[in-house]
Amino acid sequence: MGCCNHSHDEASHCCGQAGTSSEMTAMSEEQRERVLDIIARHRDTPGALITVLREAQAVVGYFPPDLIECIAEGMNIPGSDVFGVVSFYSLFSLTPKGRHTIKVCTGTACYVKGIREVINRIASEYGIREGETTEDRRFDLEGVRCLGACGLAPVMVVGGDTHGEVSADRVLELLKKYA
Ligand code: FES
Repeated sequence: MGCCNHSHDEASHCCGQAGTSSEMTAMSEEQRERVLDIIARHRDTPGALITVLREAQAVVGYFPPDLIECIAEGMNIPGSDVFGVVSFYSLFSLTPKGRHTIKVCTGTACYVKGIREVINRIASEYGIREGETTEDRRFDLEGVRCLGACGLAPVMVVGGDTHGEVSADRVLELLKKYA
């Protein structure tokens, strides 16, 4: 049984601390504490793994190896099972994400109105393709199907902001405010 199955205090002696090399430890101390709280709240609830994973990702942003190990120990399941669930669902990420996600609509209306030129401009300026993250973790670029605002085509969403009638000429200016 993993040490995270006991009290929070006992759990704090594992989960990315003792016996873990620094290069494997991607969580900060504060994040680790918050993850331990999440595990403590859910570990006695059957079928709670997805809930724990969602909440843990909200804290850490993605699943570094020490987070997977911590959850496996805390929930008393094999690390390979946790890894399997994380890699199966697109909702979860094994790599760090950017601070801002750019969702570009590749639906028919946006395609006809020139979203491809917008995507190409972003790609050449920031050196990323769809599904990638900039090296400085400023942006993720995601292609999505119809954002439901076809009347504003071509459309992109950055964070919670919807931008309609985007053009290749205007898009870099729009992105400047997302630091
Ligand atoms: S096709 Fe782009 S919003 Fe509908």
